[in-house]
Amino acid sequence: MYRLIYSSRPFGFDASTLSGLLIDSRENNQKNNITGSLLCRADIYLQLLEGPEKNVISAFDKIKIDDRHLEVEVLLKGESNDRMFPDWAMKDDPVESWMWSHQEVAKGAIQKSSDEEIINIFKKIAAAEK
Ligand SMILES: Cc1cc2nc3c(=O)[nH]c(=O)nc-3n(C[C@H](O)[C@H](O)[C@H](O)COP(=O)(O)O)c2cc1C
Repeated sequence: MYRLIYSSRPFGFDASTLSGLLIDSRENNQKNNITGSLLCRADIYLQLLEGPEKNVISAFDKIKIDDRHLEVEVLLKGESNDRMFPDWAMKDDPVESWMWSHQEVAKGAIQKSSDEEIINIFKKIAAAEK
């Protein structure tokens, strides 16, 4: 199992862009045995992708050239023992203000977070589904 987490800045963020993106993502991910979570707010996307390494990398190769976002930056990647979102082709979640303020995001808070801090955000989201 392989896991990749990246952040990016939405370009043209609105409800219809987001729902279209989630519909396409879920359909593709289901076919490709990929699961994960996408945190989304007007100023930030933070996505976790997990599945077979080859599939995650080829999905990410498409994602990183998508013009619906900019400044795609890999925060974490590598082998993982299990899935954090086994039941989700792509769980969407708004970025709550307790995570980062808009100001903190603008100052690069996410890029400055440790691997553990990033993983803990997704752990909280995964736990909230139960
Ligand atoms: C923030 C963001 C997240 C995305 N997440 C996924 C994803 O999880 N899976 C996926 O297949 N495509 C995702 N996409 C869409 C891809 O960039 C690309 O449009 C899609 O994979 C192309 O699919 P196609 O080869 O079927 O045309 C995402 C795009 C953006 C902007």
